[in-house]
Amino acid sequence: MGHSIPLVLKAAPLDTRGRALTDLRISVVDRCNFRCPYCMPEDEYPRDHQFLSKAERLRFEEIERLARIFVGLGVRKLRLTGGEPMLRRDLPELVRQLAAIPGLSDLAMTTNGSLLADKAETLRAAGLKRITLSLDTVDPKTFGVMSGGRGDVATVLTAIEAAERAGFAPLKINAVVMRGVNDAQAVDLVEHFRGTPHIVRFIEYMDVGTCNDWQKELVVPSAELRERIAARWPLVELEPNYGGEVARRYAFADGRGEIGFISSVSEPFCGDCSRARLSADGRLYTCLFANSGHDLRGPMRAGANDEDLAGLICAVWNARDDRYSESRSELRVQQRERVEMYEIGG
Ligand SMILES: C[S@@+](CC[C@H](N)C(=O)[O-])C[C@H]1O[C@@H](n2cnc3c(N)ncnc32)[C@H](O)[C@@H]1O
Ligand code: SF4
Repeated sequence: MGHSIPLVLKAAPLDTRGRALTDLRISVVDRCNFRCPYCMPEDEYPRDHQFLSKAERLRFEEIERLARIFVGLGVRKLRLTGGEPMLRRDLPELVRQLAAIPGLSDLAMTTNGSLLADKAETLRAAGLKRITLSLDTVDPKTFGVMSGGRGDVATVLTAIEAAERAGFAPLKINAVVMRGVNDAQAVDLVEHFRGTPHIVRFIEYMDVGTCNDWQKELVVPSAELRERIAARWPLVELEPNYGGEVARRYAFADGRGEIGFISSVSEPFCGDCSRARLSADGRLYTCLFANSGHDLRGPMRAGANDEDLAGLICAVWNARDDRYSESRSELRVQQRERVEMYEIGG
């Protein structure tokens, strides 16, 4: 077996729509200490849901091995996610192993911030480059609702300060917006971070998974939210940082910072989607809205060598045809089974 894979194994795979594979999101655990209503609502997520056992989850060396193979196939960005990634014990050790992969240009993590404060420095020292923090509101009461009664906004704000001290600024601060739940506080969230280097990005509430009882009426289209914010602080649209960037970027006209909008419902961006997702039990998903993943753990544990695994990944990517967000209305009706967001991360 061994890690004999050369850095570039063969030509980077393209999917049926000519999209390359450059970005891998790795879910390190499917559990979460929050119960956000749009992701894992306390009353709705399947009661009989069996979270993964330790033996089912990929071990760090298995994650590192797969990540190395993905990088050999052209992936340049890795993002750790979950569930809540900070629930995975010794996460900095995984970060250290991933940061050492030759050819990687970015290593990031998405977290709810509840367990971050005293680990931020260790993560930085281990090689984590960027943190995206999920924070839907700065209003303590609404935060309670948006975390399913589990979270405390002061803890997350303390984590943001710790992340700043550890050198992670600018952070991306992601806020999912649900009409009638936290949309009225969106302007306050912007105000809180205006004048800091951090970038608040509003995400349209998506119909991921099966348990959030998604209704279109609860989505606040980015255009509407942008108008509300621009009425208070005029905005100037910015160029994307790179092709395939999911957020539309805006600067405050007075120079006091930047915000973004991720409009996966009102302006789907499947066209240049280059992301794959690896679940904590080693299944490869080619779309956030997929109903099944492709097992990599089974072949790996059965003794497949790196080249076999690379071949499997290429075959999955070559066959990829997903464009769920662009064809949402037709597909929603047909598709009942769908992977949950807490299984594969954002
Ligand atoms: C599944 S979480 C995993 C990482 C971590 N627990 C966190 O919340 O940052 C990743 C991202 O998905 C987003 N998310 C979850 N469900 C969503 C939904 N229905 N619509 C839009 N974004 C969603 C969360 O807000 C979060 O930013
Ligand atoms: S969005 Fe993140 S913090 Fe909220 S329930 Fe899902 S995994 Fe947990």
